[in-house]
Parts: sequence; C-alpha cells; structure tokens
Amino acid sequence: LFAYQFTQDLVDWYESEQRDLPWRRSRDPYRIWISEVMLQQTRVDTVIPYYENFLKKFPTLPALANAHEDEVLKAWEGLGYYSRARNLHGAVKEIAASYDGVVPNDPDKFRELKGVGPYTGGAVMSIAYDFKEPAVDGNVMRVLSRVLYITEDISKQKTRKQFEEHVREYLEMTEPSKFNQALMELGALICKPKKPDCEQCPVSKLCVAREKGVVEQLPIKAKK
Ligand code: ADE
Repeated sequence: LFAYQFTQDLVDWYESEQRDLPWRRSRDPYRIWISEVMLQQTRVDTVIPYYENFLKKFPTLPALANAHEDEVLKAWEGLGYYSRARNLHGAVKEIAASYDGVVPNDPDKFRELKGVGPYTGGAVMSIAYDFKEPAVDGNVMRVLSRVLYITEDISKQKTRKQFEEHVREYLEMTEPSKFNQALMELGALICKPKKPDCEQCPVSKLCVAREKGVVEQLPIKAKK
C-alpha cells in the first residue's frame, strides 16, 4: 500500500512540476546518454549550454563516432573529468562498429560499454526505453534514505544495492522513465541536502524521517 501511494503521488507531482530541461524533450537514447554523462559530476545549470552545443556539433551517434577525439574533448572543455568524454566517445565508436550505430535496446548489452556504470546504465535504459532498471545516485539515495528511514552508510556498495532493490519494487507499479526522473527531480527541487522544502513535498505524509524529525540528519555518509 505504501509503495503504490508513494509511486503514484511522486509521479503525479513530477508530471505537473517537472522542469523543462532540454534532454526531456526527446526519448532519443543517444541524447539522454549525453545528458546523463554530463550530469554525473556537473550541475544542471552548468550542463545546459554544454549539452546544447555538444548536440549541435554531434547531433547523432554516428556523427560523434566519426569525430576525432580532440574535437570531442574540445566540446567538453570546461566540464572537466575528461575521462567521461573519452569513455563516451569510445563507447559510441563501439556502438557504431557493433550495433549499426543504434544504442542497444538491452540493459545488459548497454552496461558492457566503456564507462557505463550501474547509474548511467539504469538512467538511459529507463528514461529512453522504459526498462524497469533503477538509476540510483547520491540524490536518489538522499531522498529514499529520508522517506524510508534508511540509516545505513550510503558510501557502502551494499547500501546502494539495498536502495536499488526498493526502486525495483516501485518500478513494477509505474512508468520507469517517469518514476526515475521524478526521484531525481524531488532530490533537486524539494528534498535538498540542506533546508529541504518538506512543506511542498508531495510525499511528506509518507516520509518516516519527517515523522521522526530527522530529515536533515539523513543520509548517513561515513566516508568523506
Ligand atoms: N541529474 C541526473 N540526471 C538528471 C536528469 N535526467 N534530470 C535532472 N537532473 C539529473
């Protein structure tokens, strides 16, 4: 009953309150992939102009596959963490060579690609293709640690797996593309690290940390 209410309320809220972000205007897995890689260590406001410019230069997967690495790195200049760009370019070349330039419609195959970890794999496969794959990053762990009152250390691999199991349950009840993005959006707009806006939260009445008055103490993170 909790799970059903939670997914419903969260997705309803997302449908009315989501930000109009450039990568939400398309279900093209290539475009979503670019956005997720850029968003891994970089904030939304910073990413937007880079995203627009990058897709103007490399509008399709084959266009990126055929580019020289120095062109790709040049378009990435200022975003930092250049191994993200190198891995992305390498993976895109693999797709051009082995999959005819089409992003595999298969989470296991997609995750074999260079630089594609559990988060990016889940995010792209769920957002583009609606696979029931969790996309758990730090923001999602913050949201769920509060709603579910999970006090385990989020820097442990085992804890992340625990969050993924909860998300898998919710994904059975809703549209994966919307649900995963709704979790991210709640973390970005409402369930922020400091001064979470519980008054505006669509799931505050279900939130255990709120009931206990410990929202800002979560998540627990031992490693700094
Ligand atoms: N952070 C990571 N992925 C995101 C997305 N798709 N939209 C907004 N913020 C994000």
